Amino acid sequence: MTHHNSGKQIVAHAALSYVQSGMTLGLGTGSTVHYFLEELKRCVREGLHIQGIPTSKQTEKLAEAYGIPLTDFSKVTKIDVAIDGADEVDPDFQLMKGGGGSLVREKIVAEAADKRIIIVDNTKSVDKLGRFPLPVEVVPFGWQKTASYLERFGCTPVLRKVNQQPFVSDNGNYILDCAFGSIEHPKTLHGQLKQLVGVVETGLFIDMTDIVLTANNGVVERQIK
Ligand code: A5P
Repeated sequence: MTHHNSGKQIVAHAALSYVQSGMTLGLGTGSTVHYFLEELKRCVREGLHIQGIPTSKQTEKLAEAYGIPLTDFSKVTKIDVAIDGADEVDPDFQLMKGGGGSLVREKIVAEAADKRIIIVDNTKSVDKLGRFPLPVEVVPFGWQKTASYLERFGCTPVLRKVNQQPFVSDNGNYILDCAFGSIEHPKTLHGQLKQLVGVVETGLFIDMTDIVLTANNGVVERQIK
């Protein structure tokens, strides 16, 4: 790879080294994963046999257009390797995800995967999570009440919108973006928020990452948990 390639492209390419014929792959969501799907498309054309479980309708459409075979949980019970991006990665490999609104499916796929690989450029590395507002997926009914419960934890929940309308996730839910500023105890916070009625899932991915591939000045850094 040359320096003309962005960090996202470089880590997407590097993730290929974890892919082997016969595998079921978890296919994440976002622009970094988009580059990975382009790499995968090339390999599939060259004869690589894999099948993917997409974490969003967006990724599903892309994979279909690229000729990447897809499957689902009615046909497979586990995923060999899941590849996904992230919005923030801390030094303990805890993640903030959900910027693309696909956190629930991303978490279900990550939970089912033997090996979880996160591909990010160097803008995603943080000392502490929380600068990026925490996406929390909530049931639409009574979302204002759910927002008021979330507020008690020290954030200002903002209903995510697209064209002045509430953003609706692939699961038919809303997203509340909750700016905390700095999250001291991500695991504790996730547990507390997850218990609130109306909350479906939070964008905090705790102890769900095995390998982080980061790009720094055109060089891939591999961190293994
Ligand atoms: C999707 O819901 C997010 O978790 C993405 O993984 C995240 O937003 C990364 O996207 P980019 O690769 O586009 O930065």
